[in-house]
Amino acid sequence: MARDNLYFHEHGGAPERRFGFDGDGLLDFSVNVSPLSPPVTTASLETFGVQKYPSIDGEGIRGFYSARFNLDSETVLPVNGAIEGIYLLPRALKIKKALVLAPSFFDYERACRITGGSVTYLSLEEHNQFALPCIDTIVENLHGTDAFIAANPNNPTGTRFPKETFLALASRFHDKWFVMDEAFIQFVDDFPGSSLMREVRALKNVIVVHSLTKFYALPGLRLGAVIAHPDVIRVLLGYKEPWTVNVVAERVARGLLGCDDYEREVRAMIASERAKIFKRLKKVPGISLKGHAANFFLAQWNGRSGLDGLLKYLIKRKIHVRDCRNFPGLSDNYFRFAIRKPEENDYLLEQLMFAGEKIDTVVR
Ligand SMILES: Cc1ncc(COP(=O)(O)O)c(C=O)c1O
Repeated sequence: MARDNLYFHEHGGAPERRFGFDGDGLLDFSVNVSPLSPPVTTASLETFGVQKYPSIDGEGIRGFYSARFNLDSETVLPVNGAIEGIYLLPRALKIKKALVLAPSFFDYERACRITGGSVTYLSLEEHNQFALPCIDTIVENLHGTDAFIAANPNNPTGTRFPKETFLALASRFHDKWFVMDEAFIQFVDDFPGSSLMREVRALKNVIVVHSLTKFYALPGLRLGAVIAHPDVIRVLLGYKEPWTVNVVAERVARGLLGCDDYEREVRAMIASERAKIFKRLKKVPGISLKGHAANFFLAQWNGRSGLDGLLKYLIKRKIHVRDCRNFPGLSDNYFRFAIRKPEENDYLLEQLMFAGEKIDTVVR
Protein backbone atom coordinates (compact mmCIF):
# COMPACT_ATOMS: atom_id res chain seq x y z
CA MET A 1 0.00 0.00 0.00
CA ALA A 2 2.99 2.34 0.54
CA ARG A 3 3.28 4.92 -2.19
CA ASP A 4 6.75 5.14 -3.68
CA ASN A 5 6.98 8.73 -4.69
CA LEU A 6 7.23 10.83 -1.56
CA TYR A 7 7.54 14.08 -3.44
CA PHE A 8 4.46 14.12 -5.66
CA HIS A 9 1.32 13.34 -3.78
CA GLU A 10 -2.11 14.75 -4.29
CA HIS A 11 -4.06 17.04 -2.01
CA GLY A 12 -7.35 18.78 -2.78
CA GLY A 13 -7.50 22.35 -4.09
CA ALA A 14 -5.49 23.99 -6.88
CA PRO A 15 -8.16 23.48 -9.59
CA GLU A 16 -6.38 25.95 -11.85
CA ARG A 17 -3.29 23.71 -11.93
CA ARG A 18 -5.35 20.55 -12.39
CA PHE A 19 -7.64 21.75 -15.14
CA GLY A 20 -5.40 24.26 -16.86
CA PHE A 21 -7.74 27.24 -16.54
CA ASP A 22 -7.79 30.14 -14.15
CA GLY A 23 -10.49 28.63 -11.94
CA ASP A 24 -12.56 31.78 -12.38
CA GLY A 25 -16.06 31.21 -11.02
CA LEU A 26 -15.24 27.62 -10.05
CA LEU A 27 -16.75 26.37 -6.80
CA ASP A 28 -14.00 24.43 -5.10
CA PHE A 29 -15.67 21.76 -2.94
CA SER A 30 -12.40 19.82 -2.77
CA VAL A 31 -10.94 21.92 0.06
CA ASN A 32 -12.42 21.54 3.53
CA VAL A 33 -12.31 25.00 5.07
CA SER A 34 -15.00 27.11 6.70
CA PRO A 35 -17.41 28.61 4.13
CA LEU A 36 -17.38 31.99 5.89
CA SER A 37 -14.75 34.69 5.36
CA PRO A 38 -12.02 34.79 8.02
CA PRO A 39 -13.15 36.63 11.17
CA VAL A 40 -10.27 39.12 11.08
CA THR A 41 -9.71 42.45 9.43
CA THR A 42 -6.83 43.07 7.09
CA ALA A 43 -4.26 45.77 7.65
CA SER A 44 -1.14 46.88 5.87
CA LEU A 45 1.87 44.64 6.35
CA GLU A 46 3.69 47.41 8.19
CA THR A 47 1.04 47.61 10.88
CA PHE A 48 1.60 43.91 11.49
CA GLY A 49 5.25 44.70 12.27
CA VAL A 50 6.78 42.67 9.43
CA GLN A 51 9.91 44.81 9.70
CA LYS A 52 10.75 42.90 12.89
CA TYR A 53 11.28 39.21 13.61
CA PRO A 54 8.29 37.47 15.18
CA SER A 55 8.63 35.86 18.61
CA ILE A 56 10.91 32.86 18.27
CA ASP A 57 8.21 30.32 19.08
CA GLY A 58 4.87 31.83 18.08
CA GLU A 59 3.84 33.49 21.32
CA GLY A 60 0.63 34.95 19.81
CA ILE A 61 -0.65 31.52 18.86
CA ARG A 62 0.24 30.10 22.27
CA GLY A 63 -1.75 32.95 23.86
CA PHE A 64 -4.76 32.14 21.69
CA TYR A 65 -4.75 28.44 22.57
CA SER A 66 -4.35 28.92 26.27
CA ALA A 67 -7.07 31.57 26.47
CA ARG A 68 -9.56 30.10 24.00
CA PHE A 69 -9.30 26.43 24.97
CA ASN A 70 -8.32 26.97 28.57
CA LEU A 71 -4.98 25.19 28.19
CA ASP A 72 -1.87 25.49 30.26
CA SER A 73 0.48 27.48 27.97
CA GLU A 74 3.34 25.07 28.70
CA THR A 75 1.39 22.37 26.85
CA VAL A 76 1.15 24.40 23.60
CA LEU A 77 3.73 24.45 20.82
CA PRO A 78 2.70 26.93 18.08
CA VAL A 79 3.34 25.77 14.53
CA ASN A 80 3.00 26.97 10.95
CA GLY A 81 -0.21 24.99 10.36
CA ALA A 82 -0.87 21.48 11.67
CA ILE A 83 1.34 20.18 8.88
CA GLU A 84 4.48 21.47 10.62
CA GLY A 85 3.53 19.47 13.72
CA ILE A 86 2.82 16.35 11.65
CA TYR A 87 6.33 16.48 10.19
CA LEU A 88 8.07 17.52 13.41
CA LEU A 89 6.75 14.64 15.53
CA PRO A 90 8.35 11.61 13.80
CA ARG A 91 11.64 13.51 13.51
CA ALA A 92 11.80 14.65 17.14
CA LEU A 93 10.34 11.51 18.70
CA LYS A 94 12.33 9.21 16.43
CA ILE A 95 9.29 7.21 15.44
CA LYS A 96 10.46 4.03 13.71
CA LYS A 97 7.16 2.38 12.88
CA ALA A 98 3.78 4.04 13.12
CA LEU A 99 0.33 2.53 12.81
CA VAL A 100 -1.85 4.73 10.59
CA LEU A 101 -5.44 4.44 9.45
CA ALA A 102 -6.09 3.58 5.81
CA PRO A 103 -7.58 5.63 4.28
CA SER A 104 -6.36 8.74 6.07
CA PHE A 105 -4.34 11.91 5.43
CA PHE A 106 -1.25 10.80 3.48
CA ASP A 107 1.19 13.15 5.25
CA TYR A 108 1.38 10.97 8.40
CA GLU A 109 2.96 8.28 6.27
CA ARG A 110 5.11 10.69 4.34
CA ALA A 111 6.40 12.38 7.52
CA CYS A 112 7.42 9.02 8.99
CA ARG A 113 9.03 7.77 5.82
CA ILE A 114 11.16 10.82 5.10
CA THR A 115 12.76 10.53 8.53
CA GLY A 116 13.64 6.88 7.85
CA GLY A 117 10.65 5.30 9.59
CA SER A 118 7.86 3.22 8.13
CA VAL A 119 4.15 2.74 8.63
CA THR A 120 1.78 -0.14 8.94
CA TYR A 121 -1.91 0.23 8.09
CA LEU A 122 -5.06 -0.30 10.06
CA SER A 123 -7.76 -0.63 7.42
CA LEU A 124 -11.07 1.12 7.77
CA GLU A 125 -13.51 -1.15 5.99
CA GLU A 126 -16.03 -0.08 3.40
CA HIS A 127 -18.59 -2.65 4.62
CA ASN A 128 -18.25 -1.16 8.11
CA GLN A 129 -18.87 2.42 6.88
CA PHE A 130 -15.14 3.13 7.52
CA ALA A 131 -15.71 3.09 11.28
CA LEU A 132 -12.83 2.43 13.61
CA PRO A 133 -12.21 -1.30 14.24
CA CYS A 134 -12.79 -2.65 17.75
CA ILE A 135 -10.13 -2.10 20.38
CA ASP A 136 -8.84 -5.71 20.22
CA THR A 137 -8.13 -5.33 16.51
CA ILE A 138 -6.30 -2.07 17.15
CA VAL A 139 -4.25 -3.71 19.92
CA GLU A 140 -3.26 -6.57 17.58
CA ASN A 141 -2.16 -4.05 14.96
CA LEU A 142 -0.16 -2.00 17.45
CA HIS A 143 2.25 -4.87 17.90
CA GLY A 144 5.75 -3.87 16.76
CA THR A 145 4.90 -0.17 16.39
CA ASP A 146 6.06 2.74 18.50
CA ALA A 147 3.28 5.18 17.57
CA PHE A 148 -0.33 5.34 16.48
CA ILE A 149 -1.21 8.37 14.36
CA ALA A 150 -4.92 8.94 13.75
CA ALA A 151 -7.34 11.78 13.16
CA ASN A 152 -10.63 12.74 14.74
CA PRO A 153 -12.60 13.28 12.56
CA ASN A 154 -10.66 11.32 10.00
CA ASN A 155 -9.97 12.80 6.58
CA PRO A 156 -11.21 11.70 4.03
CA THR A 157 -13.70 9.27 5.61
CA GLY A 158 -15.39 11.88 7.84
CA THR A 159 -15.67 9.26 10.60
CA ARG A 160 -15.16 9.76 14.33
CA PHE A 161 -12.52 8.27 16.59
CA PRO A 162 -13.92 7.95 20.11
CA LYS A 163 -11.67 9.76 22.55
CA GLU A 164 -12.26 7.03 25.15
CA THR A 165 -10.75 4.36 22.88
CA PHE A 166 -7.66 6.44 22.34
CA LEU A 167 -7.27 7.14 26.07
CA ALA A 168 -7.74 3.46 26.92
CA LEU A 169 -5.00 2.52 24.46
CA ALA A 170 -2.64 5.25 25.68
CA SER A 171 -3.14 4.18 29.30
CA ARG A 172 -2.34 0.59 28.41
CA PHE A 173 0.71 1.18 26.18
CA HIS A 174 2.92 3.73 27.89
CA ASP A 175 5.83 2.87 25.59
CA LYS A 176 3.98 4.06 22.46
CA TRP A 177 3.04 7.54 21.28
CA PHE A 178 -0.63 8.24 20.54
CA VAL A 179 -0.93 11.17 18.16
CA MET A 180 -4.38 12.54 17.39
CA ASP A 181 -4.82 15.01 14.55
CA GLU A 182 -7.75 17.22 15.54
CA ALA A 183 -7.55 19.54 12.51
CA PHE A 184 -11.33 19.28 11.97
CA ILE A 185 -12.53 18.86 15.54
CA GLN A 186 -14.07 22.32 15.94
CA PHE A 187 -16.66 21.36 13.32
CA VAL A 188 -18.03 18.39 15.29
CA ASP A 189 -21.22 18.73 17.28
CA ASP A 190 -19.72 17.82 20.65
CA PHE A 191 -16.58 19.95 20.61
CA PRO A 192 -14.82 20.60 23.01
CA GLY A 193 -15.95 17.49 24.92
CA SER A 194 -14.63 15.22 22.17
CA SER A 195 -11.14 16.77 22.13
CA LEU A 196 -8.05 15.28 23.77
CA MET A 197 -6.41 18.69 24.25
CA ARG A 198 -6.97 18.68 27.97
CA GLU A 199 -5.81 15.10 28.53
CA VAL A 200 -2.15 15.62 27.69
CA ARG A 201 -1.12 16.55 31.23
CA ALA A 202 -2.43 13.24 32.56
CA LEU A 203 -1.05 11.05 29.77
CA LYS A 204 2.42 11.95 28.59
CA ASN A 205 2.22 9.73 25.52
CA VAL A 206 -0.88 11.49 24.12
CA ILE A 207 -0.16 14.28 21.62
CA VAL A 208 -2.74 16.43 19.84
CA VAL A 209 -2.11 18.22 16.56
CA HIS A 210 -4.54 21.07 15.97
CA SER A 211 -5.11 23.49 13.11
CA LEU A 212 -6.56 27.00 12.99
CA THR A 213 -6.62 27.03 9.20
CA LYS A 214 -9.78 25.01 8.59
CA PHE A 215 -12.28 26.34 11.09
CA TYR A 216 -11.19 29.99 10.81
CA ALA A 217 -10.83 29.91 7.00
CA LEU A 218 -7.12 30.80 7.07
CA PRO A 219 -5.29 28.10 5.08
CA GLY A 220 -3.10 30.70 3.38
CA LEU A 221 -1.84 32.06 6.67
CA ARG A 222 -0.71 28.77 8.26
CA LEU A 223 -1.32 28.51 11.97
CA GLY A 224 -1.88 25.69 14.42
CA ALA A 225 -0.36 23.96 17.45
CA VAL A 226 0.94 20.74 18.90
CA ILE A 227 -0.54 20.17 22.34
CA ALA A 228 1.36 17.80 24.62
CA HIS A 229 2.80 17.36 28.07
CA PRO A 230 5.41 20.08 28.86
CA ASP A 231 8.23 17.48 28.91
CA VAL A 232 7.24 16.40 25.39
CA ILE A 233 7.00 20.04 24.25
CA ARG A 234 10.59 20.54 25.46
CA VAL A 235 11.77 17.58 23.35
CA LEU A 236 9.93 18.96 20.30
CA LEU A 237 11.44 22.41 20.81
CA GLY A 238 14.86 20.82 20.56
CA TYR A 239 14.08 19.87 16.94
CA LYS A 240 11.86 22.69 15.77
CA GLU A 241 13.09 25.47 13.53
CA PRO A 242 12.81 28.98 15.04
CA TRP A 243 10.44 31.68 13.71
CA THR A 244 8.16 29.36 11.74
CA VAL A 245 5.14 31.39 12.90
CA ASN A 246 5.23 34.77 11.19
CA VAL A 247 4.13 38.09 12.74
CA VAL A 248 0.93 38.23 10.74
CA ALA A 249 -0.12 34.78 11.94
CA GLU A 250 0.72 35.76 15.53
CA ARG A 251 -1.35 38.92 15.34
CA VAL A 252 -4.27 37.22 13.62
CA ALA A 253 -4.26 34.44 16.22
CA ARG A 254 -4.65 37.07 18.95
CA GLY A 255 -7.51 38.60 16.97
CA LEU A 256 -9.31 35.25 16.84
CA LEU A 257 -9.97 35.54 20.54
CA GLY A 258 -12.78 37.99 19.98
CA CYS A 259 -14.74 36.05 17.40
CA ASP A 260 -17.35 34.07 19.36
CA ASP A 261 -20.08 35.18 16.93
CA TYR A 262 -18.13 33.83 13.99
CA GLU A 263 -17.58 30.50 15.79
CA ARG A 264 -21.27 30.15 16.58
CA GLU A 265 -22.23 31.05 13.03
CA VAL A 266 -19.88 28.53 11.39
CA ARG A 267 -20.94 25.72 13.69
CA ALA A 268 -24.63 26.43 13.16
CA MET A 269 -24.24 26.74 9.41
CA ILE A 270 -22.24 23.52 9.09
CA ALA A 271 -24.70 21.59 11.29
CA SER A 272 -27.78 22.71 9.37
CA GLU A 273 -26.18 22.35 5.92
CA ARG A 274 -24.87 18.90 6.85
CA ALA A 275 -28.40 17.79 7.81
CA LYS A 276 -29.89 19.32 4.64
CA ILE A 277 -27.33 17.69 2.33
CA PHE A 278 -27.78 14.32 4.03
CA LYS A 279 -31.55 14.47 3.76
CA ARG A 280 -31.53 15.48 0.11
CA LEU A 281 -28.83 13.11 -1.13
CA LYS A 282 -29.53 9.98 0.87
CA LYS A 283 -32.09 8.70 -1.61
CA VAL A 284 -30.50 9.92 -4.80
CA PRO A 285 -29.76 6.99 -7.10
CA GLY A 286 -26.10 6.58 -7.88
CA ILE A 287 -24.79 8.30 -4.76
CA SER A 288 -24.09 6.68 -1.44
CA LEU A 289 -23.10 8.90 1.41
CA LYS A 290 -20.48 7.84 3.97
CA GLY A 291 -18.91 9.77 6.88
CA HIS A 292 -19.84 13.41 7.46
CA ALA A 293 -18.90 14.20 11.08
CA ALA A 294 -16.83 17.23 10.04
CA ASN A 295 -17.36 19.91 7.39
CA PHE A 296 -17.21 17.51 4.46
CA PHE A 297 -18.86 14.35 3.09
CA LEU A 298 -17.27 11.23 1.73
CA ALA A 299 -19.48 9.79 -1.01
CA GLN A 300 -19.42 7.01 -3.58
CA TRP A 301 -20.61 7.36 -7.15
CA ASN A 302 -22.29 4.25 -8.51
CA GLY A 303 -23.18 5.47 -11.98
CA ARG A 304 -22.15 3.42 -15.03
CA SER A 305 -19.95 6.26 -16.28
CA GLY A 306 -17.62 5.77 -13.34
CA LEU A 307 -16.22 8.67 -11.36
CA ASP A 308 -14.52 10.22 -14.39
CA GLY A 309 -17.96 10.76 -15.90
CA LEU A 310 -19.23 12.49 -12.79
CA LEU A 311 -16.12 14.66 -12.39
CA LYS A 312 -16.36 15.77 -16.01
CA TYR A 313 -20.07 16.53 -15.64
CA LEU A 314 -19.42 18.58 -12.48
CA ILE A 315 -16.45 20.49 -13.83
CA LYS A 316 -18.55 21.54 -16.83
CA ARG A 317 -20.87 23.06 -14.26
CA LYS A 318 -17.91 24.74 -12.52
CA ILE A 319 -17.86 22.38 -9.55
CA HIS A 320 -14.66 20.77 -8.34
CA VAL A 321 -14.86 17.89 -5.84
CA ARG A 322 -12.00 15.78 -4.47
CA ASP A 323 -11.36 12.61 -6.43
CA CYS A 324 -10.50 10.14 -3.63
CA ARG A 325 -9.36 7.23 -5.80
CA ASN A 326 -5.72 7.75 -4.80
CA PHE A 327 -6.52 6.88 -1.16
CA PRO A 328 -6.05 3.21 -0.23
CA GLY A 329 -9.46 1.56 0.06
CA LEU A 330 -11.28 4.28 -1.92
CA SER A 331 -10.46 3.31 -5.49
CA ASP A 332 -14.08 2.36 -6.16
CA ASN A 333 -15.36 5.75 -7.30
CA TYR A 334 -15.16 7.65 -4.02
CA PHE A 335 -15.18 11.43 -3.89
CA ARG A 336 -15.27 14.04 -1.13
CA PHE A 337 -16.96 17.40 -1.05
CA ALA A 338 -16.84 20.21 1.49
CA ILE A 339 -19.90 21.81 3.06
CA ARG A 340 -19.94 25.35 1.72
CA LYS A 341 -22.43 28.25 1.94
CA PRO A 342 -26.16 27.32 1.68
CA GLU A 343 -26.63 28.66 -1.86
CA GLU A 344 -23.44 26.95 -3.07
CA ASN A 345 -24.51 23.65 -1.50
CA ASP A 346 -27.93 24.02 -3.14
CA TYR A 347 -26.25 24.41 -6.50
CA LEU A 348 -24.15 21.27 -5.91
CA LEU A 349 -27.23 19.34 -4.76
CA GLU A 350 -29.19 20.36 -7.84
CA GLN A 351 -26.41 19.05 -10.06
CA LEU A 352 -25.92 15.84 -8.10
CA MET A 353 -29.62 14.97 -7.91
CA PHE A 354 -29.91 14.68 -11.66
CA ALA A 355 -26.38 13.56 -12.43
CA GLY A 356 -27.39 9.91 -12.84
CA GLU A 357 -30.12 10.73 -15.34
CA LYS A 358 -28.02 13.20 -17.20
CA ILE A 359 -24.80 11.24 -17.42
CA ASP A 360 -26.04 7.69 -17.92
CA THR A 361 -28.25 5.00 -16.50
CA VAL A 362 -27.49 4.20 -12.92
CA VAL A 363 -26.48 0.58 -12.68
CA ARG A 364 -26.28 -0.22 -8.99
C1 LIG B 1 -6.38 15.71 8.46
C2 LIG B 1 -5.54 16.91 8.18
N1 LIG B 1 -4.63 17.29 9.09
C3 LIG B 1 -3.85 18.37 8.88
C4 LIG B 1 -3.95 19.11 7.73
C5 LIG B 1 -3.06 20.30 7.54
O1 LIG B 1 -3.61 21.40 8.21
P1 LIG B 1 -2.91 22.81 8.20
O2 LIG B 1 -3.51 23.62 7.12
O3 LIG B 1 -3.21 23.38 9.54
O4 LIG B 1 -1.46 22.59 8.03
C6 LIG B 1 -4.88 18.75 6.76
C7 LIG B 1 -5.00 19.54 5.51
O5 LIG B 1 -5.78 19.26 4.64
C8 LIG B 1 -5.70 17.64 6.99
O6 LIG B 1 -6.61 17.24 6.09
